[in-house]
Amino acid sequence: MEIIIKVGYLIAAVSFILGLKYMSSPKKAKTGNLIAAMGMVLAVALTFFTPIGHSIPTTNLIIMLVAIAAGTIVGKRYSDKVQMTGMPQLVSLFNATGGGCAMLLGLVEANPMEPRPEILSMQILLIAGLITGAIAFTGSIIAERKLAGKVKDYRTMGVVFSARILLVLMILLPVVYFFGLIPLGFAPFMYFLAFLAMIYGVLFVLPIGGADMPVVISLLNSITGIATAFTGLVYGNKVMIAGGIFVGAAGIFLTLLMCTAMNRSLMKVLAGKFKKSSGTGTEEEQEIKEISVAETALSLSYAQKVAIIPGYGLAVAQAQHVCGQLQQMLEKRDCEVDYIIHPVAGRMPGHMNVLLAEANVDYASLKEMDEGNENMSQYDTVLVIGANDVVNPAAENKPDSPVYGMPIIRAHESKQVIVMKRSMGKGYAGVQNDLFGLDNCSILFGDAKASLQEIINQLKLI
Ligand code: TAP
Repeated sequence: MEIIIKVGYLIAAVSFILGLKYMSSPKKAKTGNLIAAMGMVLAVALTFFTPIGHSIPTTNLIIMLVAIAAGTIVGKRYSDKVQMTGMPQLVSLFNATGGGCAMLLGLVEANPMEPRPEILSMQILLIAGLITGAIAFTGSIIAERKLAGKVKDYRTMGVVFSARILLVLMILLPVVYFFGLIPLGFAPFMYFLAFLAMIYGVLFVLPIGGADMPVVISLLNSITGIATAFTGLVYGNKVMIAGGIFVGAAGIFLTLLMCTAMNRSLMKVLAGKFKKSSGTGTEEEQEIKEISVAETALSLSYAQKVAIIPGYGLAVAQAQHVCGQLQQMLEKRDCEVDYIIHPVAGRMPGHMNVLLAEANVDYASLKEMDEGNENMSQYDTVLVIGANDVVNPAAENKPDSPVYGMPIIRAHESKQVIVMKRSMGKGYAGVQNDLFGLDNCSILFGDAKASLQEIINQLKLI
C-alpha cells in the first residue's frame, strides 16, 4: 500500500508541474487547470489511505467526508455565480481558506506538545506555518473586502507602526520562548502567536491602495503556498511540500512581474505609495480632436490592418462581446485585426485575456506588447478601447511623470489612433495622457459598448 501511495503522490506532484507548464499558454491553460485539479483530487484521496500509526476513527472519517462535500458544493456554487470582474475577490477568498487551514493545522498539532529540544525543529516549522497561514488568512479577507469596495485604505501612522511592532514581536517571541523565558505551554503560546499574526494580516493590508490589491493578493497567495510547504514538512508529506513550493514560487514571480510591468517596486506597493509628479503640477494644454461614430466606421472600412488595444474601460463597459463582433465583421471585409495586450491592462493579471476569451476571440489574434510594438507602424488604425495609462507616451519621454519607465504599447507610432472613452477622465495613475494631443490621435467619446455597437451599425451601411 505504501508504495502505491508514494507513486500516487509522485503522479500528483508531476501533474501540478504539468498544470503550471500548460497554464503558460492561453490555448492549453484550461487543460492545465484540469490536470492540476485531477492531481489535487488524487492527493486528497490518497490522504485517506496514508498510514498514520493508528486507524482513523469512523466519526473523523464522516466529518472529513461531510466537510469535503460541503466545501465542494459551496465552492462550485460560488464559482458558478461569480462575474468575471469579481474573479480577484474569489481568488482572495479561496486563498484565505488555504491560509486559515495552515493556521488551524498548526494549532491542532500544537495541542498535545510541550517545548522539547528533540522536537525543536518540528515546532519551529509549526510556528512558521501557523504565522504565515494566519497572515494569509486575515490579509486575504481584508484584500477581498477592499476589492469589493467595503473597506477603505487606512494609511495612518498608527496602523503602519502597530504592524511593524507586531512583525518584530512575531520574530522575537518564538526565540524568547524557546529559551524558556515565557512560562506558557506550547499550545497557549501558539494560540497567542496566531492571534498576533491574524491582527498583523489585517494591519499589513489596510494601508495598501485598493487598486494595488491584485499585487497583494498574488503576494498573499505566495505566502499561503509557503505556509503549506512548512506544514507539509511537519507531516513529512511530499505532495504538500511540492504543492506549497509551486504556489509560493509562482505567486512571488507573478507579484514581481506585475510590479515590473507597472514600473513600481514591491516595497512601494506595500507602503501604499504612488510616485508623485515632480513637475509643477499644471497640465499641458492639449488640442483634442473629437471623431464621430460615422467617421470611425469609415476609417475602419478602408483599413487593411487594425489593432485593438483593450483596457480597464472595456471591462467596465462589458464590451468584450460586441468588440468580438466588430473584429469578425472587419475580418469578413478582408481586414486583418490584432489585439495588443499590455501585461497590466485592466486590474488583474490576464484581465483582458479572460474577457476576450469570454467573447470567443481566437488566441491567434492576441499579440503581446513587444510584438505589437515591433509592427506598430503597419497598422492603419489602432482602436484604443478603455485603455489609458498603458498607451501614455509620457512613460517614455517624461521623467517626472508617475508612469515614467512603465513599458507601454506605442499606439502613437501607428498611422491613426482612435481612443474610445467616456470623458477626459484619467486612468489609474491619475495623469494626463500625452497621446490624446498628438496629431494622429482622435477621441470617440461615449461608453465603449454603446460606441462599438454604433460603429457596427454604421459599418453595415457602408
Ligand atoms: P486605465 O489607465 O485605468 O484607464 C481606463 C480608462 O477607461 C479610463 O481612461 C476611462 O476613461 C476609461 N473608461 C472607463 N469606463 C469606460 C467605459 N464604460 N467606456 C469607455 N471607457 C471607459 O486602464 P489601463 O490602460 O487598462 O491601465 C491599467 C492601469 O491599472 C495601469 O496603470 C496599471 O498599472 C494599473 N493596475 C493594473 C493591475 C493589473 S495586474 N492589471 C493591477 C493594479 C493596477 P473615462 O473615465 O473618460 O471613460
